[in-house]
Amino acid sequence: MTIKRMLMDKMNNQEPIAMVTAYDFPSAQMCESANTDIILVGDSLGMVVLGYSSTIKVTIEDMIHHGKAVKRGAPGTYTVVDMPFMSFNVSERDAIMNAKELFQAIEPDALKIEGGVDVAPTVERITKAGIPVVGHVGLTPQNVNVLGGYRVQGRTEAEAKQLVEDAKALEEAGAIAVVLECVPARLAAKLTEELSIPTIGIGAGVECDGQVLVYHDLLQYGVSRLPKFVQSYANFNQDASEAVSRYVRDVKNKTFPAEEHTFQIKDEVLKGVYG
Ligand code: KIV
Ligand code: NA
Repeated sequence: MTIKRMLMDKMNNQEPIAMVTAYDFPSAQMCESANTDIILVGDSLGMVVLGYSSTIKVTIEDMIHHGKAVKRGAPGTYTVVDMPFMSFNVSERDAIMNAKELFQAIEPDALKIEGGVDVAPTVERITKAGIPVVGHVGLTPQNVNVLGGYRVQGRTEAEAKQLVEDAKALEEAGAIAVVLECVPARLAAKLTEELSIPTIGIGAGVECDGQVLVYHDLLQYGVSRLPKFVQSYANFNQDASEAVSRYVRDVKNKTFPAEEHTFQIKDEVLKGVYG
């Protein structure tokens, strides 16, 4: 089944769509074994995996490197790959060539593009060329330096009107779904009702057609400060730091490796070598 059909079926059956990000082989395996509906290879990888302070330095090559690893880890799960900063807004020709490169190299089910009215013509061109596109409005992290920080979007009447216009333009352009990031819940609910394509929320309340979270946020893995909209379901930071500390201590104490981790050799063999 195509990703578009799967999304429409779930929306029409009112079955919430569960999306999680993944960036490598083990995280993709984990998402697939948890029956995640869609894996997003997000450009958030720049922050949570590569240690950049924003998503702006992420390249097409980064997305391909990580996207291929995700596909190896989750061959049976729908995947969406982010088009990184400046890869789709210099010119339509550039956007299409970059979309082609990502789509051919990674073979995901769709690509995702940040932006609304401004990128709608590009979304339409890429869709018409045969690549399904997921939109992304509200807080668009690639625009963080213009938006003035990571904060909720669409709280004023002007901002809310713009957001609705952006989402409708994406729907009109043929987007298969739209991510709503950091949007007031009641606005997201209205928009979800109005649009004919699914909304996937992150910090946009429970009335969206689906939800997405960053893998490292939901596991508390490497990230130190969690945004308000994150529910964490594990604490890898704590578990991993305790585990690694215990290992270091055991090495210093010579309590690791123990007998059971050790290979043996016959006396006569050792004698033959060392007398
Ligand atoms: O890059 C990402 O992880 C995203 C999600 C937060 C929607 O775009
Ligand atoms: Na992203």
